[in-house]
Amino acid sequence: MKFFVDTADVAAIAELNALGMVDGVTTNPSLILKSGRDILEVTKEICGIVSGPVSAEVVSLKADEMIAEGRKLAKIAPNIAVKVPLTWDGLKACKTLSDEGHMVNVTLCFSANQALLAAKAGATFISPFVGRLDDINLDGMELIADIRTIYDNYDFRTQILAASIRTVNHAAECARIGADVMTAPPDVIRKLASHPLTDAGLAQFMKDWEKTGQKIL
Ligand code: G3P
Repeated sequence: MKFFVDTADVAAIAELNALGMVDGVTTNPSLILKSGRDILEVTKEICGIVSGPVSAEVVSLKADEMIAEGRKLAKIAPNIAVKVPLTWDGLKACKTLSDEGHMVNVTLCFSANQALLAAKAGATFISPFVGRLDDINLDGMELIADIRTIYDNYDFRTQILAASIRTVNHAAECARIGADVMTAPPDVIRKLASHPLTDAGLAQFMKDWEKTGQKIL
């Protein structure tokens, strides 16, 4: 499973990228706001750090305006994936932009039928939002599994980009189901390394090592 980082925080992206943990980046208007940066400038900087797909989201609601924004965003770098919302206009923009050879990430997906439409419109990525479904007492992970089954049934090439990943359990479950990509905030990716038994085991080893009175260096 590929790891995308869900942030426009350049320092956090660079740190994780140096560890080989970053296969791509996703941003959205809320993350741009959080960064306090200009969308074009920060996206260009991110594309200079990460060689994989970097999603940059359009902000118009009409297809023709989304297409114009998408073309402008795609000029930032060859690894831009234009992010469009899962509306009828967004699907039209997806079809046009993907026919032009751009990577397209269709976002705000909350149902299997929406994912089916995005695949038919030529999406490179579909972004089902796991955490936001859990927030309203639905099962976000069930949606990932349903989309996996449907895409495999018909051999759709659209990649399942599990988004709104909030917990380490979300990440493990996505990998078990076979999501192609998960995008998670930097702190969730860092937490994947944590386990209380690792901490306890290491503390015991350190205590015992001290008692040996030895040194390696
Ligand atoms: O990639 C989508 C993501 O940014 C949404 O996450 O936690 O705001 O639902 P969240």
